[in-house]
Amino acid sequence: SPPAIIAPSILSADFGALGKACSDTIAQGADWLHVDIMDGHFVPNMTFGAPVVTKIRPHVARPTSAYGKGTFDCHMMIAEPKRWVRDFKDAGCDLYCFHYEAAFSTAAESPSGTSDSKTSPKELIKYIHSLGIQAGIAIKPSTSVDVLWDIIENPVDKERPDMVLIMTVEPGFGGQSFMASELPKVSALRAKYPELHIEVDGGLSEKTIPQAADAGANVIVAGSAVFGASDPSQVIAVLREAVES
Ligand code: DX5
Ligand code: ZN
Repeated sequence: SPPAIIAPSILSADFGALGKACSDTIAQGADWLHVDIMDGHFVPNMTFGAPVVTKIRPHVARPTSAYGKGTFDCHMMIAEPKRWVRDFKDAGCDLYCFHYEAAFSTAAESPSGTSDSKTSPKELIKYIHSLGIQAGIAIKPSTSVDVLWDIIENPVDKERPDMVLIMTVEPGFGGQSFMASELPKVSALRAKYPELHIEVDGGLSEKTIPQAADAGANVIVAGSAVFGASDPSQVIAVLREAVES
């Protein structure tokens, strides 16, 4: 299995002091930063866009290799995911994780773009790679894991996803209850793909991590559990230990 990767979600950080929150969590042992982007349309909540990512990027050293420490894992809970790839790449995103459910849109390539191009998950992965960053694909609880097999097995021009994200809450808010009902998706993916990076997001804590780790998840997002802790470094260590054991 791939290594344990702990990715605190800065959705639960102090947005008034975001740069420091980012550098602190890396210093406390986090591998990646999970950056939740919400547009008030794909999900009923809003966070921030590429300009904020640009401003927090200098607070965390860039990764020196794929999946390395300091990776900005941007979870794009947005409609028209193709439209924003270039802006987020320029802002310092290393891994652009779009939602399968949003990936069939007809959207301009950029805010100023004139050309409409219809996209699909496979084409979007190829497009993200063409800009030189990694591509992840996320599914909501209501989406079957079965939509992923063809995307992984029959990619366009061998452009496979670099990570799959299985949501363990309905996307939109931090602090929700973990949905163990989603773990069979993780087990099914892990059984087929021993080396795939499989991320879980939503409700992960010292309590729920054993189940997620057992199912085979290796990339662990935690927002409220890390940023709400009196000792975040200890929570990060417990999450890592559960995946590695
Ligand atoms: C929810 C976000 C999560 C969120 C997780 O839509 O995608 O990343 O921050 O927060 P917790 O860990 O508190 O469930
Ligand atoms: Zn997320």
